Amino acid sequence: MNIQKNISLKKYNTFGIDVNAKRFIAIDSLYALKELLQKEKELFLISGGSNMLLTQDIEKLVVHLNLKGISIDQENENNVYLTVNAGENWHDFVLWCIDQNFGGIENLSLIPGNVGTCPIQNIGAYGVEVKDVITKVEALEIESGKLVSFSNEDCYFGYRDSIFKRHAKGKYILTSVSFKLTKGKHQLNTSYGAIEKELASNEITKPSIKDVSDAVIAIRQSKLPDPKEIGNSGSFFKNPVISKVHFNDLQKKFPTIPSYPVSENEIKVPAGWLIEQSGFKGKRFGEYGVHEKQALVLVNYGNASGEDIYKLAQKIQQTIKENFDINLEIEVNVI
Ligand code: EPU
Repeated sequence: MNIQKNISLKKYNTFGIDVNAKRFIAIDSLYALKELLQKEKELFLISGGSNMLLTQDIEKLVVHLNLKGISIDQENENNVYLTVNAGENWHDFVLWCIDQNFGGIENLSLIPGNVGTCPIQNIGAYGVEVKDVITKVEALEIESGKLVSFSNEDCYFGYRDSIFKRHAKGKYILTSVSFKLTKGKHQLNTSYGAIEKELASNEITKPSIKDVSDAVIAIRQSKLPDPKEIGNSGSFFKNPVISKVHFNDLQKKFPTIPSYPVSENEIKVPAGWLIEQSGFKGKRFGEYGVHEKQALVLVNYGNASGEDIYKLAQKIQQTIKENFDINLEIEVNVI
């Protein structure tokens, strides 16, 4: 086992935060992972590093999960069933599927991170969530070292939520994810306003999955910062769900407040709007700030510390509470 000492984690997290790993190991096979689990149980897992804000050095052994490989388990005229190892890059997998004409995840193009973490926060964008296509998640139980299988129902998926953020948190290492995708009759989801607009502006009336993916890529590139250029972790907060009564009150004061119905009595409000209304959009504080085109994204311009960004997040939460009486929940894992 090749355990390295004192490694900077800057290049292993998309926020680009420079903290130190006392001990670090890269793992590229299930065999090596099982072997490691026999010796070490106190682990800090890092895969794509796209949903974390590191605020301190890591004392535990940092395990960089790198399991690669895609296999087709089964296919018929309409569907293909695939299993993808956790260390495959998510967007590369999406592009590979589009090349093969496998449909279902084109709306999830350009989401940073690896396949193994997509079930944890149930990644979602433009009307599609990954739970819609996941059939199974396999994981190693840290305590026993045994391989465990979770069906879609077992994962208890919700909005940016799953069992892996709740009861199962810290107990498993996700090793592979299985998907059911379409081969022929793709069910395109183009109802999201921005996608409709993008397709119309390119005069596309009968879009292919590639057209939808291209539209999503164009939209994301126009408002979300590329982590390779500006450190970030996508949406820093969840969109809050509030009661209809509360929403009606707010609407009297703020007639332009956008909303999405969730249930009979609940409404989702875009956190980006709340943050923009509170004057934070595009605000830069030296090395960190709020993205100029999407207020839901906090950014590291180069040398910010995780603590700096966390303090800004808390200031935003406090302001949103004061202005709208809404509790903004942080979406990324703050370590
Ligand atoms: N808005 C503003 N100002 C802003 C940003 C947004 O007023 O700076 C308002 C606008 O009214 C806009 C509405 O918010 O119409 C929605 O904005 P957008 O379409 O950009 O989506 P979002 O609700 O801000 C969510 C996801 C994104 C996902 C998009 C598209 C969450 C926390 N975020 O953002 O996910 O890409 O929808 O489906 O649900 C991520 O999780 O990292 C992520 C980027």
